[in-house]
Amino acid sequence: MNRKFWVLLLVAVFVGASMVISCADDDGDDADDCNLPGTVTYTSDVKPIFDAACISCHASTLSGDDRNGAPVDVNLDNYDDAVTSSARVVAAVQGEIMPPSGPASDCQKATVQGWVDDGTQE
Ligand code: HEC
Repeated sequence: MNRKFWVLLLVAVFVGASMVISCADDDGDDADDCNLPGTVTYTSDVKPIFDAACISCHASTLSGDDRNGAPVDVNLDNYDDAVTSSARVVAAVQGEIMPPSGPASDCQKATVQGWVDDGTQE
């Protein structure tokens, strides 16, 4: 076991724990409890999910090993890149391929889906 492994493990545990904490609201995390706004936007709704669960690998500022294998063309830290990848993001989140630490909550899935359904607004 090298040091990098433990750092990665720590990051994965932290990201997982923060997702559990952020979703530990009163009624659980069903999509019905999500209170999605009329129009889902990147800045208000989707970026906080990406910041918490995705950009440790999918940021345009990361290169090489720091991306942990994330494809160089999938960056979620800015609006334009996120729009470019939006269809793949929905597929990966709904298909429970991403994030690698475990499936997104129903509310997170509904938020990402809603963003695309509403026309990927900024
Ligand atoms: C720990 C690093 C890491 C995190 C965190 C992460 N990803 Fe990924 N992501 C990867 C890797 C590695 C791949 C390449 C997987 C493969 O090709 O099998 C990938 C691939 C993808 C792809 C491309 C799938 C395709 O081929 O079309 C999308 C889209 C994606 N991730 C979205 C997300 C989203 C959205 C999140 C957050 C909810 C996220 N990822 C979190 C590492 C990560």
